[in-house]
Amino acid sequence: MRVLVTGVRGQLGHDVVLHLREAGRECRGVDQEDFDLTDAASVMACVREYRPTVIVHCAAYTAVDRAESDADLCCRVNGQGTGNLVKAALDVDAALVYVSTDYVFGGDGETPFETDAPKNPRNVYGMSKLQGEMAVTAQMEKYFVVRTSWVYGLNGKNFVRTMLRLGAERDEVSVVCDQIGSPTYSDDLALLLCRMIQTRKYGVYHATNEGFCSWAEFAEAIMEEGGLKCRVRPIPTSEYPTPASRPLNSRLSKESLDRAGFPRLPEWREALKAYIRCLNTENGKER
Ligand SMILES: NC(=O)c1ccc[n+]([C@@H]2O[C@H](COP(=O)([O-])OP(=O)(O)OC[C@H]3O[C@@H](n4cnc5c(N)ncnc54)[C@H](OP(=O)(O)O)[C@@H]3O)[C@@H](O)[C@H]2O)c1
Repeated sequence: MRVLVTGVRGQLGHDVVLHLREAGRECRGVDQEDFDLTDAASVMACVREYRPTVIVHCAAYTAVDRAESDADLCCRVNGQGTGNLVKAALDVDAALVYVSTDYVFGGDGETPFETDAPKNPRNVYGMSKLQGEMAVTAQMEKYFVVRTSWVYGLNGKNFVRTMLRLGAERDEVSVVCDQIGSPTYSDDLALLLCRMIQTRKYGVYHATNEGFCSWAEFAEAIMEEGGLKCRVRPIPTSEYPTPASRPLNSRLSKESLDRAGFPRLPEWREALKAYIRCLNTENGKER
């Protein structure tokens, strides 16, 4: 097995490469410097040169709010860019993992979305990621589409880092309490993706840390685990307007994992504890 990982300078791609290396797998991580997803010729050249048997596609335009005023680039990266990678994967007969998002769903109701629930993205980013899904599923047979949500990792900016910073600076932060979903530690997700690619159990999956919470509950847990005294004031989404509309219900059903015999990821609170332990070690607090 020879694995090409896109988005190696991002949160998830970084962790996928670490896990593959730990497992002694032959792999190469690439980023925009190696090829730009929007440039079909350079994507094809990079894939033909390395000739992977599997591509784990973690690269994406992920700036959800900026995408509202930058729709063309967002769709060229996530939609057509994924199409370019699909063509290259087919050319070398590689399997492809496409990491997608809860934002492909409209967010109605309170029940978890099954993998085949109707899609109805509310924002440009969600639409572009759905275009990417369609490019994969329409043309390939050897694919894993893995939808995840609320990702945080050691290699990048994310909600946990923002809350830890604000929590150290302020007495109180206001956080929305009516968007419900599942935080996901990229290290846990990366391990699952590395397990998936050792199988031929192709298909569409949902993979997040277990359990559901609101962003406000998540923020409270971050303050507690981070040992910070900052209060979290729960507010409705209507009091925190953003350029991109976000789904209120981001709950994803994980039954697809059960059916295929893949393990579910750890509970979100346990994952958060592990992440903050790692951050503290990185910062030298545990040395
Ligand atoms: N973050 C979340 O909360 C979340 C939630 C649901 C799903 N996802 C999905 O999970 C995957 C991983 O997310 P993440 O948080 O790890 O993303 P991330 O940290 O933002 O990393 C994205 C990577 O993609 C690269 N990239 C952007 N545009 C590119 C282009 N035109 N050509 C080549 N590479 C390009 C970026 O490179 P530069 O650093 O050079 O820009 C970066 O390394 C993505 O598919 C994302 O859509 C994320």
